[in-house]
Amino acid sequence: MRETEQKAACAYREQFGGEPELVASAPGRINLIGEHTDYNGGFVLPCAIDRRIAVAVGKGGGKLYSADFDETHEVGEKDDSWADYPRGVAWAMGEAGYEIEPFRAAFAGDVPLGSGLSSSAAIEAATALALGALFGFDIGRKDLAVLCQRAENDYVGVASGIMDQYASLLCEAGAALLVDCRSLEARSVPLDLASANLALVVCDTRVERGLADTGYNDRRATCERAAQALGIEELRDANEEDLHRLSGEELRRARHVVSENARVLEAIETLGNSDFDEFGRLMFASHASLRDDYEVSTHELDTFVETSKQHGVRGARLTGAGFGGCAIALVPEAQTDEVTKACAQAFAEATFQEPVFYEFVPAAGAELAEQPS
Ligand code: GLA
Repeated sequence: MRETEQKAACAYREQFGGEPELVASAPGRINLIGEHTDYNGGFVLPCAIDRRIAVAVGKGGGKLYSADFDETHEVGEKDDSWADYPRGVAWAMGEAGYEIEPFRAAFAGDVPLGSGLSSSAAIEAATALALGALFGFDIGRKDLAVLCQRAENDYVGVASGIMDQYASLLCEAGAALLVDCRSLEARSVPLDLASANLALVVCDTRVERGLADTGYNDRRATCERAAQALGIEELRDANEEDLHRLSGEELRRARHVVSENARVLEAIETLGNSDFDEFGRLMFASHASLRDDYEVSTHELDTFVETSKQHGVRGARLTGAGFGGCAIALVPEAQTDEVTKACAQAFAEATFQEPVFYEFVPAAGAELAEQPS
């Protein structure tokens, strides 16, 4: 078992007595490229990170415990805490006709919280996989992801797209995941950074964000208005010509979506040729578009992207929804120290919060843990 899985099992024993019936875990994610495209029916290219949330479950009891918060909640009513994610998953499974009997669950994890690395999708995915197995339902990964999204949209109340739940449930180690968010088809795309001597460096700007209180829903609504004005179902169907028929905010948001979808498809080609220089250029272009047209960047995210660019990274961009959270860079391995030091210094000079840096490797999606025999 992984460390987080052992921690969850241990928390279960301490809180509830006895052994958990099973343990599952699911990762957070970064998104390489394809931002704010998922809810427009477009393309995304996330990869899972080697940080996970684990859950140990058993039948009966009706309690949810988090080792990280050292808090116990009843499975019962929504209370605007972390417990709403597992509650929401149980609710969504019930709505879909999977009868969830009383259960107890203990969680432990090491996905940074509130940083835009999808700790919420990780807790949902781990819960969904665990409950499906605990109650003997044979639910495919894609369907589990859709149930998790339903939990987030209709129970927690955040109108997020499908990307994070798909990444957490379907990613494979050493690969990114190309998702067509309209057909919900997905395929692994090998991401061999080590052979190219590149590291995936993540900068957490420590500007906390919760999607519910940012401009996320507002961006979504503008995209819907733009699609309506063009007489199409989703901005996925728009092309550059169509943009001439839009103006103002709708034009800027749509221009980002149209160009970003094209960049994802180009990015896939560059990965096929292991052309990380070109891949990096697409990342910089994505960031500029998110900054200027989609207007979801922050001074902190821009500072990381600009400073890391001056220090020779292949590409850098904000990752996730923006409005704070994290940015990523593809950094030649020998330069990671130089880049992180320069960025930390630039943050200090600008009197921003001290950033936190991580190096992640593309990791496996949700898994049931092997039980010790
Ligand atoms: C958040 C949402 C995703 C996606 C991104 C932006 O992470 O949860 O569905 O919309 O923002 O790409």
